[in-house]
Amino acid sequence: MKQFQDYLNTVNQAIAAIPYPDQPRRLYEPIAYHMALGGKRVRPVLTLMACDAMGGDTATAIDAALGIEMFHNFTLLHDDVMDNADVRRGKTTVHRRWNANTAILSGDTMLTLATQFIARTSNQAVMDLFNKTAIEIYEGQQWDMDFEVRNDVTVEEYVNMIRLKTSVLLGCALKTGALVAGAGEKDADTLYEAGVNMGLAFQLRDDVLDVWGDPVTFGKEIGGDIMNNKKTYLLISTMQKAKGDDADELRHWLNDPYATRDDKVAGVTALYERLGVRDMAEVAIADYNDRAIAAFNKVAMSDEDKAAFIALSNKLAGRSY
Ligand code: IPE
Ligand code: IPE
Ligand code: MG
Ligand code: MG
Ligand code: MG
Repeated sequence: MKQFQDYLNTVNQAIAAIPYPDQPRRLYEPIAYHMALGGKRVRPVLTLMACDAMGGDTATAIDAALGIEMFHNFTLLHDDVMDNADVRRGKTTVHRRWNANTAILSGDTMLTLATQFIARTSNQAVMDLFNKTAIEIYEGQQWDMDFEVRNDVTVEEYVNMIRLKTSVLLGCALKTGALVAGAGEKDADTLYEAGVNMGLAFQLRDDVLDVWGDPVTFGKEIGGDIMNNKKTYLLISTMQKAKGDDADELRHWLNDPYATRDDKVAGVTALYERLGVRDMAEVAIADYNDRAIAAFNKVAMSDEDKAAFIALSNKLAGRSY
């Protein structure tokens, strides 16, 4: 197994080599802009790592890896419209730099480009998994928005929502690499299970960083989830724990349409800190990371390969970016 950086270099070179037509400029320029912003490239690297670990030739997994990363970037263009986000990867979001119509149509194009990349793999199981995963992500995104206006969301509903919007794509990335390598069903499914648990820890970490992250390293504006009344694990736990004055204050922040960004973000963050929900989130992250590690340990691969996946899972669970 190579180092994360080696797979990342392969992925970055392949992304830089994707040709885009010149015209219409306002369709393709935002795609090139967004793809060049980088990001962690976790999903395509997972695909290459899984292919390698299952004895495949990583060159045969590149198209699938690119398709998955292009798809992920498409979801971000639309997600930033839905979440009204100004900054992504430290740069202006596509819908702010251009407009919402551009984010919609360039995003649509990226979805089709992604599907074309996946189709080049000529593997029906890979295509079926990709399509199933895409629809699950749309379902998760719809739950995410539905929950903004509900105040009775349970932790169970939240976990199901993040499983759909985020985790299944990490599972898909790993299983796709395994399928391309011709791995057995059991190993492919166990890698998928590892990816889903990694993904749950990943989204919980994202939610924590949305409150306490450093905007420079995180690359996003802090407090977006609070402004949108997103029913994160942090907010749901606070709604369940807050009593008396705390409960009144929380109701105020959730319902006051005139609260300024600074006041609301500071007020809700202070409530989170007072009620200790950050520690609860850290416990949940560690728990899902443990489950991911247990799944990686069950896969028939070398100890060295297991260690590489486990190191990556630990790194992502504890990340600040
Ligand atoms: C952002 O994904 C959306 C979530 C699922 C939290 P990443 O955190 O992987 O974003 P990039 O691709 O590294 O920018
Ligand atoms: C994003 O969740 C999940 C998808 C894009 C499918 P978030 O809305 O939390 O992601 P960020 O924080 O904007 O990256
Ligand atoms: Mg979102
Ligand atoms: Mg968002
Ligand atoms: Mg987020």
